[in-house]
Amino acid sequence: MYDYIINGGKKLHGEVTISGSKNASLPILAATIISGKTTKLYNVPNIEDVKITLKILETLGCKIKRDKNKVLINSKYMTKTRIPDELMRKLRSSVIIAGAIIARFKSVEFSYPGGCDIGARPIDLHLENFKKIGVNINENSSYIECKCDKILTKNIQLDFPSVGATENLMLASVLGNHEITINNSAMEPEIVDLANFLNRAGAKIYGAGTNIIKIKGVERLKEVSYKIMPDRIEAGTFLIAGAITGGTIKVNDVVPEHIAPVVAKLRECGCEIITDKKSIYLSAGKKLKAVDIKTMPYPGFPTDLQPIFSTLLTISKGTSIITENIFENRFKFIQEIKRMGAKATIEGKTLVIKGVKKLHPANVESTDLRGGAALVIAGLSAKGKTRVKKLQYLLRGYEDFDKKLRLLGADIIREEGD
Ligand code: EPZ
Repeated sequence: MYDYIINGGKKLHGEVTISGSKNASLPILAATIISGKTTKLYNVPNIEDVKITLKILETLGCKIKRDKNKVLINSKYMTKTRIPDELMRKLRSSVIIAGAIIARFKSVEFSYPGGCDIGARPIDLHLENFKKIGVNINENSSYIECKCDKILTKNIQLDFPSVGATENLMLASVLGNHEITINNSAMEPEIVDLANFLNRAGAKIYGAGTNIIKIKGVERLKEVSYKIMPDRIEAGTFLIAGAITGGTIKVNDVVPEHIAPVVAKLRECGCEIITDKKSIYLSAGKKLKAVDIKTMPYPGFPTDLQPIFSTLLTISKGTSIITENIFENRFKFIQEIKRMGAKATIEGKTLVIKGVKKLHPANVESTDLRGGAALVIAGLSAKGKTRVKKLQYLLRGYEDFDKKLRLLGADIIREEGD
C-alpha cells in the first residue's frame, strides 16, 4: 500500500478543477440497472468506490466500457440479482444497488453491508420502508432476501432524512403504476442529481431537493447520457487546504451553493471568499479565528467536511466547539492530529479544539476516507516532513489528489508504504 510523504509549510496558490461527485456517481451507477439499456455517463470520478461499484455491476452481468471519466454501461444482459458479499463488504453504500435491482427484477439478495470506521451504519430505515412499499423481506443472520409482486402506492415517513434510504426508495419505485411519497426525505444535492438522471431517462420524480419527494411509477426507462454533478466535498477540501496553508485557491467547475454553510464558516474563520457561477476563490485570512460547527443534514454543515474543517480549527486562535450530529464515531482522526501538536478533547458527540500556533510534522495513519484527507491537510500545514499512512481510505474518494495538490504548489509524493 502507499503512503503520502508531505513536506509541509508551503502556501498553496492556484486553480483546481473539481472532479465529478463520488456520492452522486454511486446511486446513478446503480440506477443504470433499471433501464436494461445502454447509459452513457460523463464526469465520473476515477476513484476506488466507483471501481468497486462497476465491478458489482459487471458481476451482475452488465457490460462496462470505461475511458477515464466517461463510463458506458449496458445493463441489457444483466441476469443476476444477488450482490456478491465480498464486494458488499468493500463498499457499504452498495446497498443502494438493491433498490435498483428491485425496480427491474422485483427480487434481490444481499448481505448486511456492515459498519465502517465512522459508525455502525445500519440499514433499518432502508428495510422497514421497503416493507411499507410492498417488498417482502426475509432476513437471516448473513443474507437479506427481498421479493415483491409490485410496488404499492404509499405515503411513507422517514424517521431520519437518510441519504441512502431516500435513494434506495427512489430507485426501487421508479417502475410500476403506483405513487410513492417520501416524507422527511434527504435534500442533499446528490439526491437531486439522481432524480435529474432518472427523469432524463423517463422517470417521474418530483420534489427532489425538498423534504417531500413523489415518485410516480412509469413503464420503462430509455437510453440516456448524463454528466455527473461536481463533488462538493472535494471542493470544500481544497478550499480548506488553501485556508490552512495561508494561500489563495480557486476551485472551478463547482456549484457554490452546494457548500454554502462551509463558505460561511470559512468567512467567519477570517478567510476572504469570492463566489462566481461555477467557481469559488479563497484567500486565507492572516489570522484564523475559532468557530463553532454543528453538522446537520443538507442544507446544514456537511458531516463529510467536519474532519477537514476541524483540522483547520486546530490552528485557529481560540476555542472551537464541533458537534457531530450525523455519525457516532467521526472524530477518530483527531487522535492522529494530536500527534502533530493539536489540542483537542472529545466529549461524546462534541469535539473541543483549543487552537495552537502551529502543528508539527509526524508519522500519522488514516482511519477513514475524510479522516485521511484531514491528515493530509494537517501535513500541508506543518513545516517539515509528515508521512500519512493507509492511503487506501483516501483513494476511495479523491481523484488525483496528490497530483492536484502538487499543481497548487504542495510538496507531496506517494511512496510505497508497509
Ligand atoms: C451518505 O451516506 C454519504 N455516502 C456519506 O458520505 C454522507 O456522510 C452521508 O450520506 C450523510 O450525508 C454516500 O452517499 C455514498 P445516511 P449514508 O443514510 O447514505 C443513520 C463520504 O465520506 N442511518 O444519511 O450512509 C446512519 O447510521 C460518505 O463520502 C440509520 O440509522 O448516510 C447515520 O448515522 C461518508 N439507519 C445517519 O443515519 C439507516 O437505515 C446518516 O446516514 C440509514 C442511516
